Amino acid sequence: MAPSATLLFLLLLGVLTSASSLPPARISFPLNSTGRPLVHFSLHDVHNTTTLLLSDDGSTLYVGARDAVLSLDISQSDVISLRRKVSWRPSEDDIKECRGKGKNQEVDCPNFVRVLQLINSTHLYTCGSFAFSPRDAFIDTASFSLVQHDGAKGRCPFSPFQRNSAIAIDGELFTATTSDFRGVEPQISRHFSKDSRPNVSQDTSVSLLDEPSFVGSSADPVERKLYFFFSEVGKEFSFIDKLQIPRVAQVCRDDSGGQRTLQKKWTSFAKASLLCQSHKQLPFNILQDMFTLQPPEGGDASDTLFYGVFTSQWSSGRQSAVCVFKLQDVRMVFAGSYRTFDMKTHQWSLQQGKHWYLGQCGLDKATDSELEEVKRSFLTSGGVKPVTDGPAVVSSEHQYSRVAAMRTMAANGKQYTVLFLLTESGFLHKMVFLDRGARLIEEIQVFTHPQLVKSIVLSSTKGAVYVGTSEGVTSVPVANCSVYRSCSQCVLARDPLCGWSPTRRECTSLNHEREHIVQDVENGNVEKECLQQIRNTEDTAEVSAGLNEVVRLQCIKPSNMATLTWTSPRFQNLSEKLFIQSTDGSLIFHAADATFGTYHCEAEEGGYKEVVMSYTVQPMVSPRSIIPNDPKDPGYDSEDDSFEEFVPEKQQTVTIGPSGDAEDEDDEFTTNLQDDVTSNSHSPNPKRNIQDDGLNRTLTFRKDSQSLRETLNVPETRYYSELVVVSLLLGICIFILALGGVHQWRQRKSDVKRNPCADAGSELEVVETSSLSADGRQKRKTHSSEDFKISSLK
Ligand SMILES: *[C@@H]1O[C@H](CO)[C@@H](O)[C@H](O)[C@H]1NC(C)=O
Ligand SMILES: *[C@@H]1O[C@H](CO)[C@@H](O)[C@H](O)[C@H]1NC(C)=O
Ligand SMILES: *[C@@H]1O[C@H](CO)[C@@H](O)[C@H](O)[C@H]1NC(C)=O
Ligand SMILES: *[C@@H]1O[C@H](CO)[C@@H](O)[C@H](O)[C@H]1NC(C)=O
Ligand SMILES: *[C@@H]1O[C@H](CO)[C@@H](O)[C@H](O)[C@H]1NC(C)=O
Ligand SMILES: *[C@@H]1O[C@H](CO)[C@@H](O)[C@H](O)[C@H]1NC(C)=O
Ligand SMILES: *[C@@H]1O[C@H](CO)[C@@H](O)[C@H](O)[C@H]1NC(C)=O
Repeated sequence: MAPSATLLFLLLLGVLTSASSLPPARISFPLNSTGRPLVHFSLHDVHNTTTLLLSDDGSTLYVGARDAVLSLDISQSDVISLRRKVSWRPSEDDIKECRGKGKNQEVDCPNFVRVLQLINSTHLYTCGSFAFSPRDAFIDTASFSLVQHDGAKGRCPFSPFQRNSAIAIDGELFTATTSDFRGVEPQISRHFSKDSRPNVSQDTSVSLLDEPSFVGSSADPVERKLYFFFSEVGKEFSFIDKLQIPRVAQVCRDDSGGQRTLQKKWTSFAKASLLCQSHKQLPFNILQDMFTLQPPEGGDASDTLFYGVFTSQWSSGRQSAVCVFKLQDVRMVFAGSYRTFDMKTHQWSLQQGKHWYLGQCGLDKATDSELEEVKRSFLTSGGVKPVTDGPAVVSSEHQYSRVAAMRTMAANGKQYTVLFLLTESGFLHKMVFLDRGARLIEEIQVFTHPQLVKSIVLSSTKGAVYVGTSEGVTSVPVANCSVYRSCSQCVLARDPLCGWSPTRRECTSLNHEREHIVQDVENGNVEKECLQQIRNTEDTAEVSAGLNEVVRLQCIKPSNMATLTWTSPRFQNLSEKLFIQSTDGSLIFHAADATFGTYHCEAEEGGYKEVVMSYTVQPMVSPRSIIPNDPKDPGYDSEDDSFEEFVPEKQQTVTIGPSGDAEDEDDEFTTNLQDDVTSNSHSPNPKRNIQDDGLNRTLTFRKDSQSLRETLNVPETRYYSELVVVSLLLGICIFILALGGVHQWRQRKSDVKRNPCADAGSELEVVETSSLSADGRQKRKTHSSEDFKISSLK
């Protein structure tokens, strides 16, 4: 088949965009958010802290940086402190030589530390690019001093941007890297071999690997094998130019090479494709990262899982997938049949029959003819299929680049897997696999500048994910349950790591002591789980406004999944068109006698509704008309004439006290709504209430919550421009209202999205971008269009 025809065929086969893509994260925390505090470590003279290694006891994080190796104390969860630092810098001559080879002094010629492994109980092994001439060394962990060692060719790459992998087991070091200046000669090898075995490397008479990019490695303790994960050019598909194929390669730990054939070369090297493809869609064929999740304590090693993050060669956008492979399946593929490479035609053919020795360990006594066969047959005929048959997750919005996974037991005793995925744009996504698919519990921004080199490690003992970037190391606690302030929010989060403690009345980390914990990870059913716990968690505020002022009542969504609706007894007699709900959830209207009153912002998520914010808007008490009554009383006993005219006889105020029940309030309001439909025609001409009061736009707030105070702390001057815009738009609305008859008006009510005020609201948002960021929450572009709706009475 001609290359172009094949590619065309592949393209016709399907598009990458999956129909069932991942829903957005429930909660977003921008960088430095107070709601989800992170611990950051950086030093002014240390950069590129991107190689991370946890000590066995989990109290130390070793960091390979630029020209330095650090030892960080991570025993405290709220601080990372420097224990030791050893500088490891190329000499002037080394740098001169590096520049002489045409390399950039700042970008390529420092020593970027690329390997850090605990080689024995007292020493660390390290390898660095060392001015484009890799060098390795030992570090005495007690004194944290560098013990030089000579010649590290073939253990880490020359280029600081090429990827590599290394793993130390029982004092032996296994590395996968390119081993030449140009970065084109891949090499998987064993160093510091024990038991007088030779050091073993890759046979170079055949091209075993083609431009691989190594992303990870893992050990199989039972079969005494090592696996390396990478993508490379798939030469078996010679008809497509540079087709990338994700792979796993194996070598046996105790391989000592052949006797005559394959001397000091792997006799156990074999590679297999990793399949990560949705049905009838283009494959995700570039492996970005691989995390090994050990089986639960006491479990069988064959249940070890590999979580791989994949992107696609054909995708230009931010798309990625997670595929999960099982060690058992990897073993099966390497124990199966192989393809043979024909040296003359450079073609692959399927092996006829099965040869017992292919992919096996212990071939040191194998015959020359068997080893000749081994040399040519190192590609399995089958690929490794993921456990779910296709990707476990497909994201059409995020390009994931690193992954870590942990198991956790929920309150009901069920095991869940929690993934931490780093996006190219700098967010850490926390994902949980539920019965009905993956769910993003939260996203936490950890960096803003794009990072070419980065890494993450997960410490289950410390309950933290560490992210290493050019700028420093950031520690992200796996959970911070206290961010959920009510039982309902705690349950709606559906985080298996968090649950509501009815005795302590707080959302808390699960510690599996004999404490009753309210949690519903699968369904997030608040009504059932929080029945006894429902209480008023809403914030209340009083707002004083002078006539004709623009009032903007803010309401912060408790989550990205929630939809906000405003309710008020004032909606009963007034047209909803006098009120604008902006994309950030704020309700905007003109202060007038008819609009003073109470307003409630209601959040609905997963069928559960709760009031999250209540306001009482009252007339401003000006010094010249002092009212003897309590000015804070929203009881409308103002002396203003127009006021009495429009305040209904029946007191419509819905007061929600600290012990008020949200459910009851809801019912009352529904009745009111029905009244409203019939009484609509009585609504007064709003123009009569809007009196020019000399453009005094100073609003005074009395708030109960600190966070609210922050969010409303917007510059006063903003109201001038706002008023002009809103007045204009309101004027247009009123004009249109006046034109339309009562009947027409009713019909339009259902057509909420297309009404002119709704459009006005969205225009308003363009003007007010500053206020969007002022509320301190990251707004997701994809949401704003759906979220936008005018406060509806239904
Ligand atoms: C986050 O905080 C760090 C340290 O306080 C500061 O250097 C950085 O500029 C902050 N970043 C943002 C985006 O606010
Ligand atoms: C959790 O967040 C709260 C603020 O929301 C903060 O005070 C607390 O220190 C955080 N806990 C951890 C373990 O980071
Ligand atoms: C660990 O390895 C280093 C470097 O090879 C060696 O000097 C040291 O003696 C070893 N320590 C132990 C306890 O084996
Ligand atoms: C294996 O490699 C190490 C590190 O280069 C070297 O010190 C050792 O002598 C080698 N062993 C053999 C048997 O060649
Ligand atoms: C090192 O960090 C700088 C920013 O400080 C970044 O531009 C560069 O790409 C990084 N290099 C490597 C090899 O990580
Ligand atoms: C407002 O609505 C109430 C209840 O439907 C009604 O009794 C009252 O007359 C209305 N007031 C005006 C001014 O339309
Ligand atoms: C606006 O109202 C405030 C508070 O009532 C008052 O102090 C201020 O003088 C008024 N400004 C104007 C321009 O009327």
